[in-house]
Amino acid sequence: MFPRERPRRLRTTASLRELVRETRLSVDQLIYPVFVTHGEGIKAPIRSMPGIYQWSIDVLIGHLSQAYQRGVRAFLLFGIPQVKDPRGQEAYAPDGIVQRALRSIREALPEAILIADLCLCEYTDHGHCGVLKGQMVDNDATLDLLAKTAVEQARAGASMVAPSDMMDGRVGAIRSALDAHGLEEIPIMSYAAKYASGFYGPFREAAENAPAFGDRRAYQMDPANRREAMKEVLQDLAEGADMVIVKPALPYLDVLSDVRRAVSVPVAAYQVSGEFAMIEAAAQNGWIERERVIMESLTAIARAGADMIITYWAFEASQWLSR
Ligand code: PBG
Repeated sequence: MFPRERPRRLRTTASLRELVRETRLSVDQLIYPVFVTHGEGIKAPIRSMPGIYQWSIDVLIGHLSQAYQRGVRAFLLFGIPQVKDPRGQEAYAPDGIVQRALRSIREALPEAILIADLCLCEYTDHGHCGVLKGQMVDNDATLDLLAKTAVEQARAGASMVAPSDMMDGRVGAIRSALDAHGLEEIPIMSYAAKYASGFYGPFREAAENAPAFGDRRAYQMDPANRREAMKEVLQDLAEGADMVIVKPALPYLDVLSDVRRAVSVPVAAYQVSGEFAMIEAAAQNGWIERERVIMESLTAIARAGADMIITYWAFEASQWLSR
């Protein structure tokens, strides 16, 4: 103990701190979420997410190619359909927006990791993540549609599918459907511990998926629950998930750390739209140092146990990480 022990000794210079650093961020671990919309020449800003856009496929390809050159190899695709209906048909239409985007991006970037977000909420006119029975989402009736969507996404060129709907039994249903269609090589990255979070606020504008009534608390997890996340994760793995996601990230580092310790599969954390918006807003006000806080938040998420981080800053951070 003091005065012999002086932890400050290893902090005296930048190179020494780098030598003993426990957590290193790399561009390889970043996943970049993008919003694809119909049309041409579109790069539409999202008000609550400065620097993030809805892209038409033609313009998106150029942006993703640039990201790819900077070392970002994994992209998570969200689609904004032309028409919404009660059953979210464009999600599983062979020429739906995400399927079209997948085909084009796959052609331009054959080696890219294209992850298709798999949910109906952007496609339903009521904005819920499945089909309705009265005012409730009908879990089992939704499974068929999710499975159909997974098959169409994989056929269009998805490297993997990421179900974010939180229906019970969806991983098993999706696995069976993929296997039955000769798509047994396509992994499932499940949003296993996904909380009913207020931090998804800005995403509602970005993906145009605000529920027309009620909220998602009847299917997404209660923010107060920690043990239950393990139950969800273990259940998804038993059904055949290859990787799992904890979402949101920063307010749920305890959950992330639990999951990392309990399972051996790769674990991702999703730094969601509200986490992004809070930092951007504070930085715009000059209240925090933007780049420093962004990198600190990513480092904290990796330190807590994330092998991969889904972040809207992937494009920008890739530049900081390679310099
Ligand atoms: C639903 C979905 C949501 C997000 C990703 N997938 C929204 C929700 O569940 O309400 C949120 C992502 C974010 O806030 O950045 N398919």
